[in-house]
Amino acid sequence: MKAPHLLVLATGGTIAGIAGSPTRHDYRPGQIGIEDWLEQVRGFGLAAELSGKQIANIGSEDMGVPIWAALHGEIEKAMADPAIDGIVITHGTDTAEETAFLLDLTLPPKKPVVLVGAMRPADAVGSDGMRNFVNAVRVASDPDAAGRGVLLVMGDRILAARDARKVRTRGTDDAFRGFPRGSVGIVTPAALEWFGNPWREGEGARYAFPDALPDVPILYVGAGMPATSVARICGSDTKGVVIAGAGEGNMPEAVRQTLKERAGSGLVVVRASRVDEGLVDREPEDASNQFVAARALNPQKARILLQVLIANGESDLDHIQAAFDNP
Ligand code: SIN
Repeated sequence: MKAPHLLVLATGGTIAGIAGSPTRHDYRPGQIGIEDWLEQVRGFGLAAELSGKQIANIGSEDMGVPIWAALHGEIEKAMADPAIDGIVITHGTDTAEETAFLLDLTLPPKKPVVLVGAMRPADAVGSDGMRNFVNAVRVASDPDAAGRGVLLVMGDRILAARDARKVRTRGTDDAFRGFPRGSVGIVTPAALEWFGNPWREGEGARYAFPDALPDVPILYVGAGMPATSVARICGSDTKGVVIAGAGEGNMPEAVRQTLKERAGSGLVVVRASRVDEGLVDREPEDASNQFVAARALNPQKARILLQVLIANGESDLDHIQAAFDNP
């Protein structure tokens, strides 16, 4: 059987990072170019043909619309190209969940698209990058990975873009988790197992990829925070805000009242939680406050969804709530 042909889109991050010593803590992300990386991988004799394209070589905190647009464009081309069976994206772990979710919302789940990163630079003792990458290649080579939306592979786990979240700043074990679903599969260089069937088979892209994304600030709630905090981050032209609320999306009463007033004049207010596994359901007052509940999305992913919705011209609060409800 012909080996699958995968396109590897490289964007930098720790997976392409170098410390200069196997034991040094500080390092520079985005140092290894994709051709040098693939040269090493070819020595492993994987059952996949790999071609690479360098999209960027940055720390992922600098991700933004220009690189997302370039990735989206390359993936659309690859999806239309019968010679390409799947796409792997190497990415910094800090914002991998945001890129994965944005692509998940704006691409059809037609061919496997798999993000992968590393917690340790390539020259560190116990570096995880190459193993994670080989795992990602295995996942993207499997036709059964299609129909599951964009996936993220870290530490032998396969996570769906909507669920994936970075939960540790250090260490390779459990650095990423899925919420509310855990892993949708497990993978090693020698084995791959899916938990359940593809859940998005036959779907198209949910939203058009926008030319620009509106600024949507995240208001991180602290006990007793004053109402003036809202005006500090929401200008008169701000179209949406995500509240990283206490517990189930709660906020001090003065903040709530101010946001209610702003919601009455068109600001879309989404209540998420500052708690890591914080499910925020609708509460009865959301209707009169004109607030939206983020459900299982953490604040940074709620922000991406709200940006995409606003950029797609959506302003109906029922439709916006339905987008947050839709798994
Ligand atoms: C980054 O996100 O670019 C740096 C951190 C990492 O990749 O783990």
